[in-house]
Amino acid sequence: MAEQRTVRYAHIIGWGKHIPSKVITNDDLSRMVDTTDEWIVSRSGIRERHIVASSKETTASMSIAAAKEALKVAGVAPDELNLVIVATATPEYSFPATACLVQDALGAENAGAFDLSAGCSGFVYALAMGAQVISSGAQDCVLVIGAETLSRIVNWHDRETCVLFGDGAGAVVLRGSDEPGGVLSTLVRADGSGGDVLMLPAGGSHQPPTLDTVAMGLHYVRMNGREVFRFATRVMDKAARQVVAEAGLTMGDIALFIPHQANLRIIQAAARALDVPMEKFFVNLDRYGNTSSASIPVALCEAVEAGRIQPGDHVAMVGFGAGLTWGGAVVRWGVPRPPVPTWRRTLDGLRYVAAGVRSRARRLQRRADAWLFGSPAPKTIDEGGA
Ligand code: ACO
Repeated sequence: MAEQRTVRYAHIIGWGKHIPSKVITNDDLSRMVDTTDEWIVSRSGIRERHIVASSKETTASMSIAAAKEALKVAGVAPDELNLVIVATATPEYSFPATACLVQDALGAENAGAFDLSAGCSGFVYALAMGAQVISSGAQDCVLVIGAETLSRIVNWHDRETCVLFGDGAGAVVLRGSDEPGGVLSTLVRADGSGGDVLMLPAGGSHQPPTLDTVAMGLHYVRMNGREVFRFATRVMDKAARQVVAEAGLTMGDIALFIPHQANLRIIQAAARALDVPMEKFFVNLDRYGNTSSASIPVALCEAVEAGRIQPGDHVAMVGFGAGLTWGGAVVRWGVPRPPVPTWRRTLDGLRYVAAGVRSRARRLQRRADAWLFGSPAPKTIDEGGA
């Protein structure tokens, strides 16, 4: 007789975010490029954005901060994680994966780790992957992060792009449970024929960085804003309808929509097309701008903190971005979580310190081995090596 496998439901049991403290307002930008607060607000809804202020703040550092917060909320120790996924268009390096740096810093010794590149749809893609490895029974505890340092790939002299983007990170912890609910449906789609509409032309293997590529500014974001706008308004409502229907729900069942925070006009167009009032759409792009794959998890955290999501609520997330990609997820919120006692929080804090010490010891060990066995040790990542 075939073995009966119990169904596992992937629940979001922890959430966290990290926003860098440096704020750039529209007025600040109007002193840097030929723009105005009025133009930026009327075309995008953005009033200010946060960006990293020092070389120590990176996609990995923000991911780690958001992840620690999410693990704390979940009451999950780093060694309980089976998988770490970082969705990002601005990874620390081409390789190693930013997710591996996060795995190491957290001391997630039992986890695999990889980055996922799907532009601003990255977080919903990663959530879909995380939920599916749990529902398949392959893994039980997955950390999903969306993080970006877009300020480092934006041309601050280009008014058509620099006014739109910001930095930040958001994270969720997914855990398998027998209790029905959690991630009910997901959608991931792409149309690579539109890849040139939004891209970073140089720095990859197609056009490795040279003095010429730098002189031509090919390592900055290139975007055809109007084309992206048209694409976004075409896919947002379609994706929402599809992912909600796949969850077996109707628009009226959704308590809150969390759209990718790129442009208020795109969100308003989606609301109109879906015939859903704007009050049901969570919007925070006025304060953060477009943080790409961080935008949906950061908005999710803020919606929870603001009491906009209650246990039993259905939440729909929809994103679109470079690729071109789009996707979504519907979640039934709330799984009983035991309160996290203070001793557990203290223990987790000590665990992070221990993880740092262990990581350092492993690097020293590798250097000692290289010295003993004669081969010159490469510099560690901390020392500026790759
Ligand atoms: N300040 C003042 N004027 C500007 C600015 C600015 N910052 N930027 C452009 N303009 C000018 C243009 O040069 C143009 O001038 P012209 O008419 O003399 O040629 C005029 O304003 C109108 O430009 P449009 O491109 O038609 O402006 P539009 O109303 O389309 O708004 C915008 C531009 C905000 C970029 C819009 O197209 C948009 O939001 N597109 C989507 C962008 C997006 O979501 N990108 C992120 C994708 S997700 C990801 O994966 C990263």
